[in-house]
Amino acid sequence: MARTISSKLPKVGTTIFTVMSQLANDTGAINLSQGFPSFDPPQGLTDRVAHHLLSGANQYAPMAGVPALRAAIAEKTERLQHRKIDIEHEITVCCGATEGLFSTVQALVRAGDEVIVFDPAYDSYEPAVTLAGGKTRHVSLVIENNGFDFAIDWELLADTVNSKTRLIILNFPHNPTGAILRRADLDRLAEIVRNTGCYLLSDEVYEHIIFDNEPHCSLLSHDELWERTLVVSSFGKTFHTTGWKIGYCIAPPYLSDEFRKVHQFNTFAISTPMQHAIADFLASDPDFYEQLPAFYQAKRDFFCGLLKDSRFRLQPARSTFFQILDYAEISAANDLELAKLWTQELGVASIPLTVFCEHPFTGTRLRFCFAKDDATLEAAAEKLTSL
Ligand SMILES: Cc1ncc(COP(=O)(O)O)c(C=O)c1O
Repeated sequence: MARTISSKLPKVGTTIFTVMSQLANDTGAINLSQGFPSFDPPQGLTDRVAHHLLSGANQYAPMAGVPALRAAIAEKTERLQHRKIDIEHEITVCCGATEGLFSTVQALVRAGDEVIVFDPAYDSYEPAVTLAGGKTRHVSLVIENNGFDFAIDWELLADTVNSKTRLIILNFPHNPTGAILRRADLDRLAEIVRNTGCYLLSDEVYEHIIFDNEPHCSLLSHDELWERTLVVSSFGKTFHTTGWKIGYCIAPPYLSDEFRKVHQFNTFAISTPMQHAIADFLASDPDFYEQLPAFYQAKRDFFCGLLKDSRFRLQPARSTFFQILDYAEISAANDLELAKLWTQELGVASIPLTVFCEHPFTGTRLRFCFAKDDATLEAAAEKLTSL
């Protein structure tokens, strides 16, 4: 008889990213599903990794992170977001954003607390809340601009926040829709949380991939929000190094203290040579991340240009390296079925948006990753245009 266990995460299966990537591998489809670049990190960065690996930086790093890396992150944060960060008490290096998100939730959420996420929501948030004994409240984004833009419904958020709300998790620039926040949005958020006891967790892993000269409005740039916010980010997207899993969490001392209590027993410390290498590269080559918007905007425009004669409806993404395509004119199938079918039969893998939603509302939309070399994008676009 098969053995079973009373699962702590009964609703969790294999993530859609693994499912679709596996299907793409099995069928030989072009994989535009999972969000990872098909190109290498900058050589200036990998050279520094080799240097530190070979010069003895191979033992445990300090629990909060290598000081040089924390200093480099603080320098970048002050320059770009105009907030001076105390590297002793306000920055912790963690194992990718995933650990930053998980450790934050475990540190703050108590049994019975409510946590608000915005659908479509990145899939690691809810399991972390469930493991902490909390309850996830899903607030759907609203679709504006004739079906092209996603935005927070502020009234709905205000109605959902209550005395049990412990945490609101935000993710802007937003995966999968590319939605961004502007200064007025931060003010609106501040009004809503002003007289509440809730904290904010801001997942900003796409902080450097934002287009059309829009600035990234980090929650930590806002004085009032900063008092109750933990910002989590990652170098995976910024340096084409999703396999390294080096991220960080920036928060005021009282929140960083709680974060570190979990972090030190979750991962304790993060890869030492990688941290030194990223510290060096941040200091020596700030132009790399400064030019990232132009780099990915060119990819976005290339991909969208290739699809201009297709039957998909699209608006070029405002941020991230994902393009949403609306297939309403091509098929009436649901997005999960279609994503699988097109992987198997058309040879292009994508991610259906409904898997990020408690109550599907995103309609006929699929997410395609354009962090790929031009030949891959051309081959995928040719297939998509044939539909
Ligand atoms: C919105 C979002 N948050 C977090 C992560 C995880 O980041 P990391 O790989 O640094 O753990 C991802 C990765 O795709 C993401 O898209």
